[in-house]
Amino acid sequence: MRHYPRAATAALLLGVSPLALQAEVVGPTTPPPAPVFDAQGEPVFVDRADIFTYRALDSYNEPDFVTAFVEAGLLPPVEERLPAEPLVYSSANMTDGVGTYGDVMRHVIGGRPEGWNYIAGQSQGWGGIDIGLSECLTRTGPLFMVNPGDLAPLPNLARSWEWSEDGMQLVVNLIEGAKWSDGDPFDADDAMFYWDHHVMDPEITPLNGATQETFGAGTTLEKTGDYQITFTFTTARPEGVLYAMAYGTFCPGPSHILQPEHPAFSDNTYEEYRNAFPPEYLSMPVMGAWVPVEYRADDIVVMRRNPYYWKVDDAGNQLPYLNEMHYRLSTWADRDVQAVAGTGDFSNLEQAENYVEALRRSAEDDAPARLAFGPRTIGYSLYPNMSANGWGEPDARGQAIRELNRDLNFRIGVTQALDRVRLGESLVRGPFTAQYPGGLYAGTAYYDADSTVFYPYSLESARAHFEAAGLTDTDGNGFLNHPADVLGGADVQMTLLANADYQTDRNLAEGVIAMMEEAGIRVSLNLLSGNDRDAAMNSGRYDWMVFRNASELITVVQNTPQLAATGPRTLRHHMANDAGELDLLPFEQELADIVNAVIATNDAGERTELMKQFQRIYTENVYGPGLTAYPGALIINKRFANIPPGAPIFMFNWAEDNIIRERVFVPAEAQQDHELHPGTLPGAPGSDGPITAG
Ligand code: GLA
Repeated sequence: MRHYPRAATAALLLGVSPLALQAEVVGPTTPPPAPVFDAQGEPVFVDRADIFTYRALDSYNEPDFVTAFVEAGLLPPVEERLPAEPLVYSSANMTDGVGTYGDVMRHVIGGRPEGWNYIAGQSQGWGGIDIGLSECLTRTGPLFMVNPGDLAPLPNLARSWEWSEDGMQLVVNLIEGAKWSDGDPFDADDAMFYWDHHVMDPEITPLNGATQETFGAGTTLEKTGDYQITFTFTTARPEGVLYAMAYGTFCPGPSHILQPEHPAFSDNTYEEYRNAFPPEYLSMPVMGAWVPVEYRADDIVVMRRNPYYWKVDDAGNQLPYLNEMHYRLSTWADRDVQAVAGTGDFSNLEQAENYVEALRRSAEDDAPARLAFGPRTIGYSLYPNMSANGWGEPDARGQAIRELNRDLNFRIGVTQALDRVRLGESLVRGPFTAQYPGGLYAGTAYYDADSTVFYPYSLESARAHFEAAGLTDTDGNGFLNHPADVLGGADVQMTLLANADYQTDRNLAEGVIAMMEEAGIRVSLNLLSGNDRDAAMNSGRYDWMVFRNASELITVVQNTPQLAATGPRTLRHHMANDAGELDLLPFEQELADIVNAVIATNDAGERTELMKQFQRIYTENVYGPGLTAYPGALIINKRFANIPPGAPIFMFNWAEDNIIRERVFVPAEAQQDHELHPGTLPGAPGSDGPITAG
């Protein structure tokens, strides 16, 4: 730790009057090294074409019970349900090879489904439900195992694409002859309905926030064939759009079911459209491998295999291998407990409070589940609401906090009031947590320690910076006051938004509050549950928030526009007001320009250099102070086969995507009796539940 005893030096750096910084200011350093913690299991790296291709096979197979539906005249034969050239997984890339049909993967989740209208913004409760239901044009989860030299999104519903010579257009060829789970053809109209009436409709924000900017400002899309769509860009060859075509920003919904309810085609309001497919609406048509067939509030969502699923293995077996999926509606902590105990099958061990117990049990010989730690990609930051022009409609108190949030001295004060060692240890002791300054994660491809500015913990320095931001304890009650001309010199009072559904989020928020109080800032906690918390966050109704970071800070190439305020609604903690105006500070504009340059370039070296600048400006300006980063572990019941080695719980996407669930199976001798609706298939959309062949 370097000390700058002369306030003048620091003041000069920060552009404030030397008099304002009288106490000792502790200056920035590079981040302290993280404790060594090796990931368990290395991916087997391959090229994308080694994983699957699209081609016709001589014949296809399906589970016997599905053949009974065909024989009863309830379903066309399997070769007619499949596209002429289905997506064919290569068994050479499957850890345990060609699988067997049967059994269930029992998930436990802490979220709750709002309904099935994913593209209109409804959450399905996370934990892998939406990842499994909604197939997207491209796919990125499995990229953790792709050779760096071949790193680009995997084809999926988009089977191929071609750039025009000048790079201003991208022709996307969709898979031909694939069908929704009710047998309706999937085609360019589904993609266009998503684009025209969701991405481009300002009244709708799809679940993962896709807007036109996600695909580059000014980008347009048109249908150029029954199975072809063409993007036109305003810059040449913006390759990031291939990532924007993946989960969760280009996953079309069933237009044949949705369109009649959309306000552009009906008398419905937007709210009515969003809510037109409540969780009780069963057999919602999907392109994913399983279809919801049962829903019991606060209890369970059950899904049965999609008889029209358009992927097979290279022996011609229609996927998925697993007949059923369960999502127990419980808590996220219960997911860990049940996976370790064997009453659940899967968990992303991500709440560090549960690590010691989970590790202990999993190490026992008779443990039902395997547990493997991956890289340190679970990380939390504290985000200031940077808007001072009305986003979130703050009252006078809130507005005063927004103004403070925009003051670098205030943000440095906040970051220096955080004792990250103590915060990490409050979650778990041991070599897990690292001090995380914010921005890109250590150990990831674009991270550069020398470009990372770390403001060490120092209460004295924090107070000096708060003082420089105009905050002093004028009434001697131990809490800092605004200057006399702001709110009559009242105590500074902030609110902190956090997710009530995770113990880790609560613990971190409570830690932050205690540490802020030590530095003289009073913070009240606004703990909200899943969908309510998302709504508060997305509409800017908070002063600061504790947030578990998303994939852009790990991969850079995924969700790139979200790294900065590149558009009115791209950066989580600074969105435009109702008039569409974004009041960016100069450094924020610089970051947005850098990110736009990253999006525009195809030169890997240039991208690396730009991201170093990004990281420096981001961390120097404390855009979002990091709290902690630690490794997550994948827990999967030992009976499952084809789990790719080294699958991280989070990288380009969550493990529910990374492990490629449609090709996961349970060997016949290990199969258990968990099917709740054996022998059934999804019924007609909106019907009562699964149906039998008899
Ligand atoms: C939640 C869970 C994650 C993961 C995702 C999938 O956020 O906390 O572990 O399951 O859902 O969307």
